[in-house]
Amino acid sequence: MTRILITGATGQIGSELTLALRDIYGQEQVVASGRKHPPSTAIRESGPFVYLDVTDSRGLAELVASHNIDTIYHLASLLSAVAEAHPQRAWQVNMDGLTNVLEVARKQGCRVFFPSSIGVFGPTTPPDHTPQDTIQQPTTIYGITKLSGELLCNYYYKRFGVDCRGVRYPGLISHVTRPGGGTTDYAVEIFYAALSGVPYTCFLGPDTRLDMMYMPDAIRAAVTLMETEGSRLSHRNGYNITAMSFSPEELATAIRKHIPTFSMRYEVDPVRQAIADSWPRSMDDSVARREWGWQPHFAMAEMVSDMLAKLNSSMEKGE
Ligand code: SER
Repeated sequence: MTRILITGATGQIGSELTLALRDIYGQEQVVASGRKHPPSTAIRESGPFVYLDVTDSRGLAELVASHNIDTIYHLASLLSAVAEAHPQRAWQVNMDGLTNVLEVARKQGCRVFFPSSIGVFGPTTPPDHTPQDTIQQPTTIYGITKLSGELLCNYYYKRFGVDCRGVRYPGLISHVTRPGGGTTDYAVEIFYAALSGVPYTCFLGPDTRLDMMYMPDAIRAAVTLMETEGSRLSHRNGYNITAMSFSPEELATAIRKHIPTFSMRYEVDPVRQAIADSWPRSMDDSVARREWGWQPHFAMAEMVSDMLAKLNSSMEKGE
C-alpha cells in the first residue's frame, strides 16, 4: 500500500498536492510535513501533519521509518529570488535537503518525486522551443541546485536503483497558497491586485515572456508521472512540461477582458529581470507527451477565467 510523505507541504504546490494525493490514496496514507506551524485548516483536518526540517537527516529518517513511508514527494525548496538573496541557505535547503531525502530513500526503499524547474536553463540555452536535452548552464543558485538535483536523482536511480522521477515546472499560477519568492510570482500577485480593484506594479518588464502553468495541471503532472510504468521513461528526471507562454502585458490584457478597469505599471526589479532573461521563453515538452502522456488542460484564457472565479470566491469568504 502506498504510504506517502510530502515535504514542503505548506508551500504553493504542497498545499494543493497534499489534498489531491489524500483524495487518491486515502487521508491517513499521506503524511504532510513542513516547517510552518500550523498548516492550513484543510491540511490539518484532512490527515496527519508533522513538523519536519529537511536538513535534519535523522528526523527525516525516523519519520520515514515510523510512518512506513514508501514514496516521498520532496517539495521543500527555496525559490529563485529568495535563493539569490540567500545563496548559502539555498544550497543547504535545496541540496542538503535533497541529499537527505535520497539517502533515506536508498536505505528505506522509497520512491521519490523531485520538482525541477525552468531555472535549470541559462543564457546559453536556446530560449525558444527549448529542447528536452540541451545546453544547461544556469547562472542562478536556484538553477544550479535544481540542475544538480536532477543529476543526483538520475545518479541514485542508475547507481542504487532508487526510483526518482521529476519534471521541470514553469512558473506556477495558483489561488490557494501564494508562491514564496520566485521570479514568476507576478503572474499570481497580479490576480490579487485585479480583484482588489487596485493597480498592480509589475517587477518584470512588459515583454518578458516565460512558460507558465495552472496548478491543477501541475498537480496532475506529478501524479501521472509517478503512476507511469517505469519502463516507459527514458529520462526519469527533469522532464520539460509547459502549458502556456506569455508576457506580463499579455496577461494584463487577458485579465482586462474580465476586469476592464484593471491597470498595471512597471517598476523593474533588476535581480528578478536578470533571472527571467536567463530562462527560456517556451519549452518543447514533446518528450513528456510521448513518454508518459503529458497534456495540459488549461491554456491562458481558461486559466484566467478559472483563477479569477476561484480567487474571487476565496477572497469573499476571507480565506
Ligand atoms: N517559479 C519558480 C521561480 O520563479 C521557477 O521554478 O523561482
